[in-house]
Amino acid sequence: MGPAKIMLTQDNPVMLLKTDARDQEWISAFAAAMPELEVRVWPQVGDLKEINCALLWNPPVELFNGLENLEVIFSIGAGVDSLLACSALPAKVPIVRMVEPELTAGMVEFCLFQVLRFHRLMHCYERQKAQYAWQELPQLPARDTTVGVMGMGVLGLALAKQLQSLNYNVIGYRRQSKPNDAIEMFCGEAQVEAFLRQAAILVMLLPATEQTRHIINRETLAMLPPKACLVNAGRGESINEQDLLMALDSGQLQAAALDVFGQEPLPTDHPFWSHPGIFLTPHIASITHPPTACRYIADALQAYRVGGAWPNLVETGSGY
Ligand code: GLV
Repeated sequence: MGPAKIMLTQDNPVMLLKTDARDQEWISAFAAAMPELEVRVWPQVGDLKEINCALLWNPPVELFNGLENLEVIFSIGAGVDSLLACSALPAKVPIVRMVEPELTAGMVEFCLFQVLRFHRLMHCYERQKAQYAWQELPQLPARDTTVGVMGMGVLGLALAKQLQSLNYNVIGYRRQSKPNDAIEMFCGEAQVEAFLRQAAILVMLLPATEQTRHIINRETLAMLPPKACLVNAGRGESINEQDLLMALDSGQLQAAALDVFGQEPLPTDHPFWSHPGIFLTPHIASITHPPTACRYIADALQAYRVGGAWPNLVETGSGY
């Protein structure tokens, strides 16, 4: 007989950790949230058969070799594209998305900041300052400004609520219909146009999937109201970058605030760096906060151990 199988429902969890270069922060946070957890930092894995859960970011293919008793994978990021892209990802192991309050709060702060920048014309006043121009521009009430949130998962919903509390007229778009009494929702391909036609400020919080690739392109950009502004804090692959540049140069789009790009780091010769209509940040909109994330993982493991289901499961193959 081989060594006894260590199971999440019967034994203490043994976690394999492969982070985004913040190992020590995660180890300390786990020690506080789950002292009973044994953490093994990749590639110091010990006996692979003892590992029954994993917290991962950008796993290399070889990480999954011999992990026969893995019962769950937690994603470090809100986006699971780096995990799903790994060809060795075990097909039957559930993947739990990261949903933790500080990650959500950070994303809401970032997007609110960009919406306020565009709505209150801060991008125009910055330009005027460079020209020593003292000139008042029209002030549009928030209630007369429609913000379209594309991607209404946990982050999109949290943002939409905050925007509403500031009196913006908020509409939401998602692929699959899911009723929402508080926010006017548009669903599926058939309603993309009706949604975009109203979105004076478009905020994109879409995951990278087959369905979202270049969903914003020449044709869909032309559906936006003239002089619309765009914010992308989801994934760069959702936008055709050449088409975005054309829309900015033609004046169809007024400005764009981008945190994510088709290629990251953004190459230094990329035209976005010097474009006056583009505000860019290096994929910092929000990052997972280990202390609250470890409490979320501790709660999820505890619920599972007493017979519950995993929260926020990734349905492989689902869109947004
Ligand atoms: C960051 O991009 C994340 O997926 O959390």
